[in-house]
Amino acid sequence: MCGIVGYIGNKKACPILIAGLTSLEYRGYDSAGISTIENDTLSVLKDKGRVKNLKNLSGFNSLQGTVGIAHTRWATHGKPSKINSHPHMDNSKTFSVVHNGIIENFHELRNFLTSKGCTFYSETDTEVIPNLISYYYNEIKGTDASNNIFDFLTAVKRACDKLNGSYAIEVISKDFPNYIITAKKNSPLVIGKGHTENYIASDIPAILEYTKDFYFLEDDEFAVISKDNIKFYNKSLNEISKNFKQISWSPTAINKNGFEDYMLKEIFEQPDSVRNTINSRLTENGKYDFSDLNLSNEYLQTINKIYIVACGTAMHAGLAVKNTFEKLCKITTQVEIASEFRYRNPLIDINTLCIFISQSGETADTLAALDLCKNAGAKTIAITNVLGSSITRMADNYMLTHAGPEIAVASTKAYTAQVTLLTMFSIHLAEILGICDKNLIEDLKYNILCLPDKLQKCLNTNKIIKDFASKTFTEKDIFFLGRGIDYTTAQEGSLKLKEISYIHSEAYPAGELKHGPIALIEPGTTVITIITDESLSAKSVSNAQEVITRGAKTLLITNIELSNNNFDTIINIPKIHPFISSILAIVPLQLLAYHIAKNKNLDVDKPRNLAKSVTVE
Ligand code: M6R
Repeated sequence: MCGIVGYIGNKKACPILIAGLTSLEYRGYDSAGISTIENDTLSVLKDKGRVKNLKNLSGFNSLQGTVGIAHTRWATHGKPSKINSHPHMDNSKTFSVVHNGIIENFHELRNFLTSKGCTFYSETDTEVIPNLISYYYNEIKGTDASNNIFDFLTAVKRACDKLNGSYAIEVISKDFPNYIITAKKNSPLVIGKGHTENYIASDIPAILEYTKDFYFLEDDEFAVISKDNIKFYNKSLNEISKNFKQISWSPTAINKNGFEDYMLKEIFEQPDSVRNTINSRLTENGKYDFSDLNLSNEYLQTINKIYIVACGTAMHAGLAVKNTFEKLCKITTQVEIASEFRYRNPLIDINTLCIFISQSGETADTLAALDLCKNAGAKTIAITNVLGSSITRMADNYMLTHAGPEIAVASTKAYTAQVTLLTMFSIHLAEILGICDKNLIEDLKYNILCLPDKLQKCLNTNKIIKDFASKTFTEKDIFFLGRGIDYTTAQEGSLKLKEISYIHSEAYPAGELKHGPIALIEPGTTVITIITDESLSAKSVSNAQEVITRGAKTLLITNIELSNNNFDTIINIPKIHPFISSILAIVPLQLLAYHIAKNKNLDVDKPRNLAKSVTVE
């Protein structure tokens, strides 16, 4: 999705903006642009293609301004092109704007502005914003000649009042060369506080190198930013005070640390990231501490249903813990895809606990589903990796996964952290409800403590997986099979493979095979089976045998001694309680997707058409 960066201070803005845009490249984009204030005029340089191409544009070297805004665009309205790239200016070239989000009523606004004599040059929804600001600014100036910063702010506010949809914007003006104004609605924006300089970004990593102190703008708020000051205003333009939060992420966490790609680095970080997740809730006496959640034991006793709502990999994390919640807490637990859930009028009441999982905390569908549940009176918990993200501010309660920044588009360490944290929470809930076998709880707790070491052992499968990938990367279709928890791992493994290797793949519950999908199996078709649940292993082996008989090339991921099997390749992973086996079994599948994509010379960190956080519906 689009990325935003802004700088105001004493240094040249351009290199800071370019560095910020570069660190946002992982979000996915197709064009880039930058606007600075040069001797009271606005300069705009932009084009389709990579951020680094901006440096080759004529005029780049003469950008000396110390105030600027910048953008990476992921095309929604209008193809990727120079003219559609941001920043966009108004007709009088007084205002320059970058925008993340979608203006749903832009046709209507365009017609209105056209009737006022305005010309549009791009196909974008965004171009209405600088022109609306200009329109209202001229209206205000007609009645007030003071040229006050408040006039600029009022013009931005009046323009925002007209916008339907979502936006995070930065605005600069040649008439106010010492300010940047920002506003947001349903799209994230953070402001980094520096010393005699300030920074703006859509995502923390873009400016983490310069500051750890962040303000999080709320919907319908405005910020007027100068190099020495940041003033916040509510939607009535009354000044409000806000506290900044300190982000603990180290700037080195967003380096590749010697790895070829972020994805590989993040896969290898899992022993540490899961350890951090565990430690964030573990007390010295081995108990779990969730006392920060505003959920009384009395309330927890009344829960009659749990919804876990999320998208993509985060939704798979929900699937991976569904059984655990049901077995330990004896509460019906439904896992839902957010984009479906939000439109299907689900049955929710005050006794429904709604849990939302989102690595980024900014996924539009997940946030909309959260809003729906809150309005229905349910209690909400967000599981996220990003402190200060929208979901942390919307949900009644939030829990951080502590996986550290995840940069690669394909989610890996966030998944294992989400499953770990939710399993711990289900144990906590079961203990409060007091209805679960204590031995089972103790056994699970012990198994959770073993996860970091066992994850380390799973990483040792890298070599054999790499060999398998070198023989498999030309495949057109790959199938994944599993039963129970292993079916969830199959689904997540299949998603990883699809998104970064572009190989068509499907995951099936192994028992469902003969109800249709087995028709697709031909001699040589690759089928990957996951077996980590002893109680289902004989059944899964029989199902795998059905594809082996039909000539499939088979890979087995298992932690069980299976006699009499005919799999072509077997990857052994450590034994672990089946409730959490997905945390280990997914690792070889993450590595497989990675090595297949590398064999195909693909950009594993930035797969085509995908974005790291999906902030539009
Ligand atoms: O930031 P979120 O966890 O809300 O993102 C949800 C999905 O968009 C995300 O998991 C996506 O499926 C990943 N690219 C999968 O690797």
